[in-house]
Amino acid sequence: MGMEKYNSNMDGKDSEYLYPPEILKRLDFSKSPATFKPKISAANPGEDWMVVRPLQRADYDKGFLQLLGQLTSVGNVSRKQFDERFTMMKASGGYFVTVIEDTRINKLIGAATLTVEQKFIHNCSLRGRLEDVVVNDTYRGKQLGKLIVVTVSLLAHEVGCYKMSLDCKDKLIKFYETLGYKLEPGNSNAMNMRFDDPS
Ligand SMILES: CC(C)(COP(=O)(O)OP(=O)(O)OC[C@H]1O[C@@H](n2cnc3c(N)ncnc32)[C@H](O)[C@@H]1OP(=O)(O)O)[C@@H](O)C(=O)NCCC(=O)NCCS
Repeated sequence: MGMEKYNSNMDGKDSEYLYPPEILKRLDFSKSPATFKPKISAANPGEDWMVVRPLQRADYDKGFLQLLGQLTSVGNVSRKQFDERFTMMKASGGYFVTVIEDTRINKLIGAATLTVEQKFIHNCSLRGRLEDVVVNDTYRGKQLGKLIVVTVSLLAHEVGCYKMSLDCKDKLIKFYETLGYKLEPGNSNAMNMRFDDPS
């Protein structure tokens, strides 16, 4: 499946989504090996004040960067910088930044990103990568980490990725294993070459 149809969605200015929200409603959570008790999904996150949706341009004012600050250093990103990055991500396609909002307080409480790499190999395949997973610390331990990771993982399959990969700290291996990720012995080493310190 191509990605073109996910790349052009305008829905007003501030409510503009990075990608079409309808696709999240189609995800079949019964296809995930994750167990949810009680049962929840992106379409029905279990509380009427909670919504799982694509990132919106207005999320600069809903604590998105502060939430990412609980994952790593974000720096002083201005509204203009955020806006330009949002525009670029949307124009490039392949960026599925997905968030959970507490609509009682208009704040984002969870986020995860699927990025989709286009390849020539494997018959012009698509490969997904899971990035920037975070749940607000006061909301942890309530299945929201599972919910956001399963959401973007099913999304990867839905947009046609043949596999999804992630890098994580050792202590999170078990967490991701319960969601269907596997270490592949002999093929599981993450290596980095570092250039500038971005922080
Ligand atoms: C990792 C993180 C997203 C999990 O969010 P959460 O909402 O607390 O996760 P859940 O409530 O869905 O937890 C699911 C399961 O994983 C376990 N788990 C969650 N975080 C864990 C951690 N840091 N270490 C070990 N196990 C963890 C939980 O105990 C739970 O197990 P259970 O289903 O048997 O009760 C959250 O701790 C976080 O934002 N951490 C800081 C940022 C980070 O490290 N991100 C990941 C980068 S790879």
